[in-house]
Amino acid sequence: MDADAANYDESKVPVYTLTDPLVMADGSKVADADAWLVKRRPEILKLFQDHVYGRGPGKPAGQEFDVVSENRSALDGKAIRKEIDVFFLGREKHAKMRMLIYIPKDAKGPAPAFIGLNFRGNHTIHKDPEISITESWVPNDKQIGYENNQPSERSRGSQASRWQVEKLISRGYALATIYCGDIDPDFHDGFKNGVHPLFYKEGQTSPASDEWGTVGAWAWGLSRGLDYLENEAEVDGKKVAVMGHSRLGKTSLWAGATDERFALVISNNSGCGGAALSKRQVGETVGRINSSFPHWFNGNFKKYSDNEAALPLDQHMLIALMAPRPVYVASAIEDRWADPRGEFLSAFHASPVYKLFGKDGMPAEEMPEENKPVISTISYHIRSGVHDVTAYDWDRFLDFADSYMR
Ligand code: GCU
Repeated sequence: MDADAANYDESKVPVYTLTDPLVMADGSKVADADAWLVKRRPEILKLFQDHVYGRGPGKPAGQEFDVVSENRSALDGKAIRKEIDVFFLGREKHAKMRMLIYIPKDAKGPAPAFIGLNFRGNHTIHKDPEISITESWVPNDKQIGYENNQPSERSRGSQASRWQVEKLISRGYALATIYCGDIDPDFHDGFKNGVHPLFYKEGQTSPASDEWGTVGAWAWGLSRGLDYLENEAEVDGKKVAVMGHSRLGKTSLWAGATDERFALVISNNSGCGGAALSKRQVGETVGRINSSFPHWFNGNFKKYSDNEAALPLDQHMLIALMAPRPVYVASAIEDRWADPRGEFLSAFHASPVYKLFGKDGMPAEEMPEENKPVISTISYHIRSGVHDVTAYDWDRFLDFADSYMR
């Protein structure tokens, strides 16, 4: 089935029932914010671990950080640039990811920050010739000269429009980014490469059906990046927003759910397995994503291929796991594969949980028009154009962050 053969017709959306986030597993009602935090939230987190993303190993002991480069006059003197190697199990074990950080030079104190994974290597987020080129496996991509899974010099800056580094810096934010392939290369090899094998028990050769897949590993990597940022004097570790696009937007949501240290969470065009409701079966479905990308989710998620009605949860409950922290869900009008309406509805149906905290969640009951953002504790917009991250999206995310992180 190709993307064109998917369902985009609202009249063909099956009748579905969404699990009420405010009813506990034992049938009792969640009375207040305390009951949510102590009892219901852990129940829902466990549902997502069991059925969708899998359980990760948590914070490893003995993590070590090396500052491998530092330039205090990057971007024409406007920024400090650092590259940090994060050794997950200490230097001796070698396994690491490299994080690139830009920090505004004229910051008056520790800067609030955005952290996000990138698709093609840190050197693709800006033309800056001093960013080191990834040594990890990369997907072949003729347009930027990636062949035989090797990166190229000419790919520098090829994803710059998605990152808007100068804009972030001029607005006073630091940016930290990591190539997702440093954590787990994005292809299915039975979990032999990437971070999974570092945590296998004796005799284990692949994750159990309720253990982490690739999205789980990527989200775990974001938390390891935050571990470093908490120790970075020039960044405010209590004001770190996690942002991601598409498969990496699914990842930013899961990172925000599993790690409450992220102060603000942004999902851009995250679609199926991200912000979009699975039970609508519009655009990409659970069956389709599991067959194209069998490594992204856990083994148990396969049970819901062409069987969404059996899911004991839906993605509105993932958004609810951010409460009471601010969360922004962004869609694009031509990104029908990601089901913009389903993304909006998740944001909307997470709102009752925010109300427990005296916040209004997503105030709009109807989907807003193109380029008319609805801004509240849960914010939403549908931008004109295609599946991408643009300057328009960043302007909204930065305004949103200004309300909570300045
Ligand atoms: C594919 C996939 C989506 C994903 C997207 C991306 O289109 O089906 O689920 O979000 O790739 O990551 O760009």
